Amino acid sequence: MDRYLTPVERFIVANTALAAPALVPELKLRLANEEQKLLIWQQTEVWLGRRDLLPPYWAFCWPGGEAVARYLLDNPATVAGQRVIDLGAGGGVVTVAAARAGAAATVGNDIDRLALVCLRLNAEANGVAVEVSSEDWLAGDAGAPDADVVTAGDIFYGAELTMRALAWLRGHAAKGRLVLLGDPGRRFLATDHLEMRASYAMPATDDPDNRDLREITVWRVRA
Ligand SMILES: C[S@@+](CC[C@H](N)C(=O)[O-])C[C@H]1O[C@@H](n2cnc3c(N)ncnc32)[C@H](O)[C@@H]1O
Repeated sequence: MDRYLTPVERFIVANTALAAPALVPELKLRLANEEQKLLIWQQTEVWLGRRDLLPPYWAFCWPGGEAVARYLLDNPATVAGQRVIDLGAGGGVVTVAAARAGAAATVGNDIDRLALVCLRLNAEANGVAVEVSSEDWLAGDAGAPDADVVTAGDIFYGAELTMRALAWLRGHAAKGRLVLLGDPGRRFLATDHLEMRASYAMPATDDPDNRDLREITVWRVRA
């Protein structure tokens, strides 16, 4: 990277390392490594001088997102030439994969602005162009930009968020859009209105001595 970095970008670069996620080794993302994982939340709060921050989800690649990314890269016709919007994009594994798979336009959305800075760095690292949005698409009637395909990777980690996100995603499905979500089997996600598209086995932890695998599913959302 040979351009001048903003202070926020420098913070992200200093506290992460470029690495290839297990399911999508063809991508490089800014991720917290083993040592950085323990400190990054605290460092983010200290650096910003705030105590009310969202956890730095953007410094990790979440299994549900990795699975959707794998699916898009293996099935590029799903998004080629299409407009894709990615809810809860975090560091952007799905957003970047959609752009790499040939989407005509890709918007990564997150209510955490730091995530969107990380997402832009990740797009740059992978040589793709993306748009970002920090609007809370789930909050109001304004909805979201027009889209052909709607994605969401691993955002079903709370009961209320899951309920609101699923209603919003089903609304897009009712408009005839292809809606894909990835999830590692979190308990909040009921699977009625969902149709399995693919499933992938991933190590349950980063511990090389723990070889247990868990299934990560890519679902198509029905209205
Ligand atoms: C577990 S992370 C998953 C990130 C990414 N999709 C992935 O798979 O690596 C969940 C993300 O959802 C975002 N999020 C939570 N509520 C949201 C909302 N109402 N609108 C948009 N993003 C939201 C969080 O800030 C976080 O970045």
